[in-house]
Amino acid sequence: MATNGAALSRPLGLLAELTHRCPLGCPYCSNPIALDPRGDELDAATWARVFREAAALGVLQVHLSGGEPASRRDLVDIMRSARDAGLYTNLITSGVGVTPKLLGALADAGLDHVQVSIQDSEQKSADHIAGYEGAYARKRALAAEVVAMKIPLTVNVVVHRANIARIEEQVALALDMGAARVEIAHVQYYGWALKNRAALMPTREQVDAAVKAVEVLRARHHGRIVIDAVVPDYHARFPKPCVGGWGRRSLNVTPAGKVLPCHAAESIPGLEFWSVRDHPLEEIWTSSPAFNAFRGTDFLPELCRTCDRREVDFGGCRCQAFALTGDARATDPVCHLSPHHRLVEELAVVQEDRVYSYRRM
Ligand code: SF4
Ligand code: FES
Repeated sequence: MATNGAALSRPLGLLAELTHRCPLGCPYCSNPIALDPRGDELDAATWARVFREAAALGVLQVHLSGGEPASRRDLVDIMRSARDAGLYTNLITSGVGVTPKLLGALADAGLDHVQVSIQDSEQKSADHIAGYEGAYARKRALAAEVVAMKIPLTVNVVVHRANIARIEEQVALALDMGAARVEIAHVQYYGWALKNRAALMPTREQVDAAVKAVEVLRARHHGRIVIDAVVPDYHARFPKPCVGGWGRRSLNVTPAGKVLPCHAAESIPGLEFWSVRDHPLEEIWTSSPAFNAFRGTDFLPELCRTCDRREVDFGGCRCQAFALTGDARATDPVCHLSPHHRLVEELAVVQEDRVYSYRRM
């Protein structure tokens, strides 16, 4: 087995992209530009097998995601099979399409946790960013139902130039919605967000103000809500350990059944992804060419291989290294030690007030 010399670990989480269909059109969507059509989606019986194989492989949590998972009529069956496999289930939803009746059925089938994203604290701006009128109201209504059913709720705030000035208001909204946790997630520039990069990019001053705001809010709301936040890539000195290291902690299964080491892996040309239609999950985890392409740190350039942080960040994100340098084995240029870091600094100051290119199928 070729694992680039890395010891093989067990995955803890599985992201199940049940469908790419979604009523919203967020311009930073993490789905690929080439979306899987409905006719290619795995059926519920195949998902049930995937969940059993995932649990046998050591996976503890499944994130039922999309697109919008509620676009699937068989979502309750899928939820039940995840629970039957013994997995902790997290539903990642836009909030649109999850009626109170469906939520109740999902809860009965084994739903453990709900994560809903908000686009802004102001309704008009939120609906504009989502590309869907009424999204803000639907999300608030769903959150109220989730809390009434005593299901733990996390609110995900995706931050970019249009809403970064309202971190405080968005955390207040998450509190008001009854969330136990709020994730301040700055846009990461892959796929749709890469297309919209100049329209989404915050200024350095905005990022600095946001970092300070988070510190103040953490102190103010300590014990009431957990606030998770990281500095956005293009304004950081060191890269993030993307997905906890390639092929170390998690796997993504696309609607059509391809298994990816991260959500953007298909943006790297030449990688061979195996499908759950053809291989058991364990074989994919241990032996698929895509998972073994960047495991460990041996493939990295000298700069990273001799660096103290190589087991901390694994040289950063492979997809970002490819997107910015054309070489997926390069040091992530977000690292200030990278010979390409100047590129990130140059892109971080490009702000253009363009119309969003919305994510549509
Ligand atoms: Fe991480 Fe490589 Fe930069 Fe070191 S040189 S901090 S390992 S990206
Ligand atoms: Fe693919 Fe970071 S998004 S490795």
